[in-house]
Amino acid sequence: MSAGIKLVAKPGEVEFPKGMEGMISRESTKSFVNGAEGFLCYNGIPIQQLAENSTFEEVCYLLMYDALPKETELAAFNQRLLQYREIPDFTYETIYGMPAYTTHPMAALRTAVSTLSLFDESSEEDTPSALERAGINLIAKLPTIVAAVARSRQGLEPVHPRADMPLATNFLYMYTGEEPSPLYAKVMDIILLLHADHGCNASTFTAIAATSSLSDMYSSVVAGICSLKGPLHGGANERVMRMLNEIGTVDNAEPYILNAIARKKKIMGFGHRVYKAYDPRAAILHGYAKDVTRQAGTEKWLQMAEIIERVMIDKLGKKGIYPNVDFFSGTVMASMGIDPSLFTPIFAMGRVPGWVSHILEQRADNRIYRPRFIYTGPMDVDYVPMDER
Ligand code: CMC
Repeated sequence: MSAGIKLVAKPGEVEFPKGMEGMISRESTKSFVNGAEGFLCYNGIPIQQLAENSTFEEVCYLLMYDALPKETELAAFNQRLLQYREIPDFTYETIYGMPAYTTHPMAALRTAVSTLSLFDESSEEDTPSALERAGINLIAKLPTIVAAVARSRQGLEPVHPRADMPLATNFLYMYTGEEPSPLYAKVMDIILLLHADHGCNASTFTAIAATSSLSDMYSSVVAGICSLKGPLHGGANERVMRMLNEIGTVDNAEPYILNAIARKKKIMGFGHRVYKAYDPRAAILHGYAKDVTRQAGTEKWLQMAEIIERVMIDKLGKKGIYPNVDFFSGTVMASMGIDPSLFTPIFAMGRVPGWVSHILEQRADNRIYRPRFIYTGPMDVDYVPMDER
C-alpha cells in the first residue's frame, strides 16, 4: 500500500447493515414509528387520533412547528397556504410542453417543482424565514402542479386553484374540474395526512442529505421526490393497482398470489423495513376503502384486496410481512377515479410537509452528511497507457 494511504476499515473487518438498516442519522421530534407494534405518531400524537380529528393543514403546522396550532395560528397558516396556491405561467407552460406519452407524472412533478425556485426571489437566501417560506410555498403549490400534470395528460386545460376550499378538496376540484363529494374530499385529506411523515425513510433521508450541504429548499425537496419515485418506496401504490387489474377477477386473486409467492415474487403494497406488524396507516385506509368502494361501485377491488391480504398474512405474516400504506391507498384512489400514474405524485403532495419539516430541523443544527464506504477495490495499481491495455 502506498505510503500515507490507510484504509479506515477493510472488507470483513467491520459489520455494517445493508441498506443502512437501523442506523441512526440524527435526532428528530417529528415522527416515531414502532415497527414491532405497528405504531406511528407525529410529534407524539398517534396517527389514529390525527386521522380522526385533524386535517392535513393542521398536520403540516404540527410537523413544521412541533405543536398543534391555536385557532388564530391555524387561520394565519391557512392564509399563507392559500396565498401560494397558484403556480407561475412558466410552470404551466413547462408541464403542458412535456410529451404526454413518454413523461411519467413523477418525472413531470420533479421537473415542474424545479421551476418554482426560478420565481422565488429568496430561493437562494439562506435564512430560517426564507427556508420556511419556501417550504410553505411548496406545500401549497404541489397539488396545483399534480392536478395540472394530470389534466395535461388528458389533453385538458388546467383548472386554477380556488381559495375557498381546503387543500385536499381543492386538489380534487383542480383534477376533475368539479367540486368533490364530502366523502371523497375527506378521504383525500386523510390520504395526505397519513403520508405526511414517516421517520427516516429513503426520500426524507435524501432530502436531508441534500440540504446538509446548505443546498436550498427547492433542490432538497426535488431530491426527496427523486427518491420517492422508486417502486420500493412511493412507486409501490401505482403497481398495486396494476396488479389488481392484472388479476382481473375476485376468483383469480388467491391463485395469482399463491403463484407469485411460490415464485418468490415481491407483492407490491406488502412488507416494510420498519413495520413487522400491520402498518397503522393501512388499517385506517382499509376502513375508508369500504365506504369509497361502496359509493363508487368498485367493491370488487376491495374484495380482491382483502383476499390478497388474507393469503399474504397467512403465508408470510410469520416473516413480518403485512400490508403497508400503499396497499389500500391504491384501491381507494382508483375508486375515486384517480389515474394510478397519479398515485405517487399524490404521495409526494402528502409527504412534502415531512420533507420540509426535516429540512428545517436539519438546518437548525446542521452538519454536512458525509458517511463512508468500505473500499473493496484494488490498491497500488499503476496506470496503464492506452496502447498497453
Ligand atoms: N412480498 C413478498 N416478499 C417480501 C415482500 C413482499 N412485498 N417484502 C419483503 N419480502 C420478503 C423478501 O423477499 C425477503 O425474504 P427472504 O428473507 O426470504 O429473502 C424478506 O421479506 C425481507 O425483504 P427485504 O426486501 O430484504 O426487506 P427490506 O426491508 O429491504 O425492504 C421493502 C422493505 C418495503 C422495500 C420491501 O418489503 C418491498 O419491496 N415491498 C414491496 C414494495 C412496497 O410495497 N413498498 C412500499 C413501502 S411502504 C411506503 C413507503 O414508505 O415507501
